[in-house]
Amino acid sequence: MDTPISDFIREYAGADPVRLHMPGHKGAGDAERFDITEIPGADSLYEADGIIAQSEKNAAGLFGTAASFYSAEGASLCIRAMVYLAQLAAKRRGLPETILAGRNAHKTFVTAAGLMGTEADWLSPENGTLLSGVISPAAVEAKLKARRYAAVYITSPDYLGGMADMAGIAAVCKRYGTLLLADNAHGAYLRFLETDQHPIAAGADIVCDSAHKTLPALTGGAYLHFGAGAKDLIPEARHALALFGSTSPSYLILRSLDEVNRALATDFPQQLRQTCKTLAALKRRVAAAGFPVYGAEPMKLTVTPKAAGYTGAELAALLAKKGFICEYFDPDYAVMMPSPCNEPAVLEALAAFFEALPKKAPLKSTPPRSDLPPKAMPLRQALLSDCEKLPIRQCEGRVCAAPCVSCPPAVPPVCCGETVTAGAIEVMRYYGITHCCVVKEPDRGI
Ligand SMILES: Cc1ncc(COP(=O)(O)O)c(C=O)c1O
Repeated sequence: MDTPISDFIREYAGADPVRLHMPGHKGAGDAERFDITEIPGADSLYEADGIIAQSEKNAAGLFGTAASFYSAEGASLCIRAMVYLAQLAAKRRGLPETILAGRNAHKTFVTAAGLMGTEADWLSPENGTLLSGVISPAAVEAKLKARRYAAVYITSPDYLGGMADMAGIAAVCKRYGTLLLADNAHGAYLRFLETDQHPIAAGADIVCDSAHKTLPALTGGAYLHFGAGAKDLIPEARHALALFGSTSPSYLILRSLDEVNRALATDFPQQLRQTCKTLAALKRRVAAAGFPVYGAEPMKLTVTPKAAGYTGAELAALLAKKGFICEYFDPDYAVMMPSPCNEPAVLEALAAFFEALPKKAPLKSTPPRSDLPPKAMPLRQALLSDCEKLPIRQCEGRVCAAPCVSCPPAVPPVCCGETVTAGAIEVMRYYGITHCCVVKEPDRGI
C-alpha cells in the first residue's frame, strides 16, 4: 500500500527547507516537523486531485466503497455533510426535507439538522434507554409506509455497543427508495473483521466513520464513505465537507489517515481479529464473574455492574485505581474500548480484576423512562433563538433551545424545539445534567 501523503511530508521535512509558509511553529518539534500547509505538491483537502485524492482512493479500496473522503475534524464534520447531502438529494428528488432518525443520535446530528432547517422525525429505540436500544427494520418500515422522508439516519454501533440490523434497515430503505445514512463513528473497524460488518457492506448509502475511535489514527481523523446507492451525490462530497470544515485541515491528521491505510493493508486486520477473539473470551469471563456484558459490538466492553452491586461510576473508579481508564460510565454502565494497540496482557489483567472484585447485593434502580417530549417549534427556530441557560428544575414547560449534554455520550434527552417535560427533567437529573438552554419566553410558540 502506498502512502503518498506521508511520503511527501517525510521528504519535505527531511530536506529541512526554510519554511516561509504556515504554520507559525516552522517545523520545530517532533510532531511539528510533519505539520505543513497546502504548499506545492501537498494537494488541498477540499479540492484534492493529488496526493490526498490518491490516498483517499486507497482508503476507498480498503473499505470497499464507491468513494471515500477524509475529514480532519472528526465524524462530526461528516455528519454535517451527510445532513446537507440528504437535504440536497431531497431537493433533487422532490422529497420533504425531514429525516427519520434514531433517537440515540449524537448531538451533532441535532445541531446539523437545526442549522440546515431540516426537521427530524424520531424513532425511539425499542427496549432501550436514552443511549441505546434496538431500532428495527420493522419500525423503520412502519414510518416509511406512512410518509416520505429525505433520508433515514441510523446510529450503529451506539455509544454502549448496541448494533442495529443495518442490512435489514438498508433493505427496507431500498424498497421505499429512501437514502440510508449511517453514523458509524464507533465502527470503522467493522469492515476488517472475519465477516465484514461495516454499514457500507450492509447496503447503507452514506456513512461516517471516526477513524480515531477504533483505528490507529490521530484524534480528528474520520471518513465520509459512499455506497453504490449514493453515487449521484459523490461529486458534491467535497463541497458538502468544505461548507462546514476549516480551510486549514491538519496535515498531521491527514498523514495519520494515510498511514492507517498501510496498517489496514498489512497486519492490522489480523491483529484486530485476534483481539476480537481474546475480547470475546474476556467478555465470557466477566459475565461468568457476575458482571453482565451489554451490546453486540465486538470491540466494545460494556459492563452493567448493578447486578453485582456497583454503579457504573463506582466500577469506573475502582478500575481507575488499578490504572484502567474507562471511555465512559454512568449509573448503569461502564464502557471500555480496547484495541489491538493495547498490550495483550491488559485484557488478561482486566479479566482478573473482575474475577477478584467482590460481588454485593444487586442494585435495583433502573434509568427513568420518558416519552418523546412534544415538539413546540421547528428545530432551526429553537436552535437559533435567543436563549437562556437555567437549572433544569426551572425548565419544565419551556422550549429546549440547544442540546445540553456533554461528550461523551452526547445523546440529548430533549432536543431543540421540544418542550421540557417533567419526565425529561427526571432523565436529565439521572444522567447528571444540571442545566438546560431554553428559548427566552417571548420567542415561545411557532
Ligand atoms: C455516535 C457518535 N457519533 C458521532 C460522534 C462524533 O465523532 P467525532 O468525535 O469523530 O467528531 C461521536 C463522538 O463521540 C459519537 O459517539
